[in-house]
Amino acid sequence: MLLQNPVLPVQLLETHETIQAGVKLYLLRLDLTDDIVSGNKWFKLKYNLQHALDNGYSSVLSFGGAFSNHIHALAKAGSSLGIKTIGVIRGEEEYADNPTLKDAQAWGMELYFVNRQEYRQRHDCEYLETLQARFSNPLIVPEGGSNKFAVQGAREIITPDILAKVNPDQIVLACGTGGTLAGVALSVSDISVLGIPVLKKADFLFSDIENLMTDSGVEPTDNWDLDVEGHGGGYAKVSNDLLAFMECMLKEHQLPLDQIYTAKMLSHLLKRIERGEYVKGSTILAIHTGGLQGARSLA
Ligand SMILES: Cc1ncc(COP(=O)(O)O)c(C=O)c1O
Repeated sequence: MLLQNPVLPVQLLETHETIQAGVKLYLLRLDLTDDIVSGNKWFKLKYNLQHALDNGYSSVLSFGGAFSNHIHALAKAGSSLGIKTIGVIRGEEEYADNPTLKDAQAWGMELYFVNRQEYRQRHDCEYLETLQARFSNPLIVPEGGSNKFAVQGAREIITPDILAKVNPDQIVLACGTGGTLAGVALSVSDISVLGIPVLKKADFLFSDIENLMTDSGVEPTDNWDLDVEGHGGGYAKVSNDLLAFMECMLKEHQLPLDQIYTAKMLSHLLKRIERGEYVKGSTILAIHTGGLQGARSLA
């Protein structure tokens, strides 16, 4: 195996919502795995990079926005493993100076800026062929890293040790493309898994997640669901309430969150607990999927 999985710490989070509801809420702190290839990225990239190495690819190309956690993690992982990386970035070249893309370039990633219209072609076979030709046949990994290799990696997030320690009735996590949820749900087919999409109108994820499960070579399971009301106004929309929530979690629980994924997931989960969605005595395991580097965009 290319990358050894880290040991993942679990934190009990007690808030007035959990205490009043008589619910135990644990957080699986994937953000503590590595300063840079942190969170779910570790798991989503490891078999993609293994595939690149095993098949003699000299480079890996992927897609993302200007503050993309995935692009940041890919650049770092590629530099550690001696694999050249190329980032196709949605937006103007002026973003090259932001902290995420500065890091990526320092780790040797080549950046290729494209406008929104071109970026929309990122799933198009013909467009991917032009990228193959332009960048000398890299392994192309989809946006967010979500493909069968990502699902394979995400199946390793919840270990028997974690289950023995927490024994959750439900596992909760934020969803972007749904790749992480697909892997987690496949790995615990007898436990309910709830995804909280951070995009508006995320119903398309129901079929995307099933397809990701099928692509990874297994029958889709039905132990998972999505709560599509937790997007907080839409992707990357940040309200003052959300910022206040992040500040409170940091001060009172020493819990750093990012504003795109983990803060939205956790604040929505606490609202669900407060309005009585979980019976007294339930145990929930929420996954902190990392993404803290992206919080630098708040500055
Ligand atoms: C910090 C963080 N959490 C959650 C997600 C969502 O993961 P997925 O796209 O696999 O649903 C992402 C995006 O990949 C992310 O960067």
